[in-house]
Amino acid sequence: MARTPAMDEVTFRSDTVLSDVHLYTPNQRHLMVRLNSMGQPEHTMATPLEDVGKQVWRGALFLADYILFQWDLFQGRTVLELGAGTGLTSLVAATVAQTVYCTDVGADLLAMCQQNIALNSHLTAPGDGVVKVRELDWLKDGLCTDPKAPFSWSEEDISDLYSHTTILLAAEVFYDDDLTDALFKTLYRLAHKLKNACTAILSVEKRLNFTLSHLDVTCEAYDHFRSCLRQLEQLEGGPLRFAVEPVDAAFPQHLVYERIQQLELWKVRVEPAPRHVASPGRTPRLSL
Ligand SMILES: C[S@@+](CC[C@H](N)C(=O)[O-])C[C@H]1O[C@@H](n2cnc3c(N)ncnc32)[C@H](O)[C@@H]1O
Repeated sequence: MARTPAMDEVTFRSDTVLSDVHLYTPNQRHLMVRLNSMGQPEHTMATPLEDVGKQVWRGALFLADYILFQWDLFQGRTVLELGAGTGLTSLVAATVAQTVYCTDVGADLLAMCQQNIALNSHLTAPGDGVVKVRELDWLKDGLCTDPKAPFSWSEEDISDLYSHTTILLAAEVFYDDDLTDALFKTLYRLAHKLKNACTAILSVEKRLNFTLSHLDVTCEAYDHFRSCLRQLEQLEGGPLRFAVEPVDAAFPQHLVYERIQQLELWKVRVEPAPRHVASPGRTPRLSL
């Protein structure tokens, strides 16, 4: 009798993340297929952390649906996506936006993303939207401008990014607390560099797990994400105000994936703080 992969055969290691749905595959929605070291296909629910950007996550499709719903918000805009992975959300954004900076880390991932963008350029052509794939590492302070490095930034890119960006996007990037901290610090730093007020739109899937440490079903990564949002919102005394609000998830679904209840969208509106008096040394820092 043929062996079917069972739940208890799946090995979860500390450097893997649960990845229960990627693209809609009828009857196999909890499984993804990957080639093992022998080149044989195997099913798995866990993805090594270094590979998380090489598949489409449900939150990317959810965020893409929101863009299609709120397309007038994106029309003609300059958009920056953080942790774009395959580039799907950036591509959808570029069907209405003018320029989308589609960013992530790692030359091979970015090359795959660039290839996806090129293969689907017909989707952005009608609106003249441009997707620029660039490296943006949340763990580094600046943008790479070394012309010899692949996916580095030109001076013109940086000037365009800071002068015109009004929307930031991030889908499914809240699965590791250190990376979540780094992502929020990046958001905070960028918001202070952008010339205009901006809105960050973040998608997250609340993955519930039973943990032995809590003897309960929890989602620590999601809890940490929410605590970072609270910290941002409570910042006072700086030049910017961060207003956080959940987005009603009842917008239409155009793309094919399972619209589960655990999918959430959050908006962070960044605006000049009212009555801010600039005083050196008083600017609060995010203490993540
Ligand atoms: C779970 S994937 C989500 C990918 C895509 N947004 C989606 O929803 O399909 C997380 C993404 O964050 C990226 N990432 C992880 N660490 C990063 C860092 N330090 N700087 C920038 N991106 C990072 C990964 O490479 C990966 O593409």
